[in-house]
Amino acid sequence: MEPIRITRATTRKPKPKDSELGFGTVFTDHMFVTDFQEEKGWYDPRVEPYGPFSLDPAAAVLHYAQSVFDGLKAFRGHDGTVRLFRPQKHIERLNHSARRMCIPPLDPDFALKSLVTLVGIEKDWVPASVGHSLYVRPTIIASEPFLGVRPAHSYIYFVILSPVGAYYPEGMNPVKILVVDKYVRAVEGGVGAAKTAGNYAASLYAAEEAKHQGYTQVLWLDGVHRKYLDEVGTMNIMVKIGDEIVTPPLTSGTILPGVTRDSALTLMREWGLRVSERQVSIDEVREAAHRGALKEVWGTGTAAVISPVGELAYQGERIVINGGRIGELTQKLYDVIVAIQYAEAPDTHGWLVEV
Ligand code: COI
Repeated sequence: MEPIRITRATTRKPKPKDSELGFGTVFTDHMFVTDFQEEKGWYDPRVEPYGPFSLDPAAAVLHYAQSVFDGLKAFRGHDGTVRLFRPQKHIERLNHSARRMCIPPLDPDFALKSLVTLVGIEKDWVPASVGHSLYVRPTIIASEPFLGVRPAHSYIYFVILSPVGAYYPEGMNPVKILVVDKYVRAVEGGVGAAKTAGNYAASLYAAEEAKHQGYTQVLWLDGVHRKYLDEVGTMNIMVKIGDEIVTPPLTSGTILPGVTRDSALTLMREWGLRVSERQVSIDEVREAAHRGALKEVWGTGTAAVISPVGELAYQGERIVINGGRIGELTQKLYDVIVAIQYAEAPDTHGWLVEV
């Protein structure tokens, strides 16, 4: 791969205080860009001032959503050092999503270099307080101007950075979730396991309905039986029933292989907890709640890390979890993962990459 060309921004944007940060509204001074053409492969990697693209109105991404993205975070530890959390795992997933959408994958070493280089240049943008981080959004879009339906012959890979606080306005406070059986997110054989734009567009209608009814997000059930838990909002879901922690398996191909999901499973297994990757039906969850065995429910995702669920509404019934309070294990997972991310706890798994 060619060396990365760097063009510095001539003016710098003001940086908001950490306390003013929400999610995904502020962007840094630079972005990473590289192009792909069938004859050339990926070429001209560069860091340039953050700004709009010039894109042909016929670009395939604008019509047929041929695009993939990922989301990871950089954290500033107490020692001032900036570290990316599990970037290799995110790159692996980006390439997995790309293959599913007929997009040429990136060389993993090159992709890591793009992230480290850009975050390195924007180091000053990485917030210093716990709960705040620099969200990193690598994205690939089909740029070829062509209205026929087939994989494009040209692409743009870009990375943008956004200093962020909590994903939900609720922060670590438990959220209220509507279980939907009218709409589905994914079906077996579909693209549910790929982080591709269309999945998020397709989720909006149900999420808006849930919001109008006073819920933060929806819980998605499987597309065939409308019975088994799939995901919660844009996150993976975990439930604790008795002493068993259950999360849907990746084998159906309908859920995203979450990096935080993997981190939480790894930690819980190390703690000797009973963890099952198996299908769990909404009826099993409801019955467990009725007999007092539904202990905790939480979502896992890069954006929110761990998001406690305080209430599920299903077919007119309100299932309140742990009195609407954060569960003990939910809190522990959050605390331990966050401590690793900010290098307050030892990184025994090799999850951090220094910038
Ligand atoms: C997550 O990290 O939980 C996400 O899915 C990212 C979201 C902003 C789309």
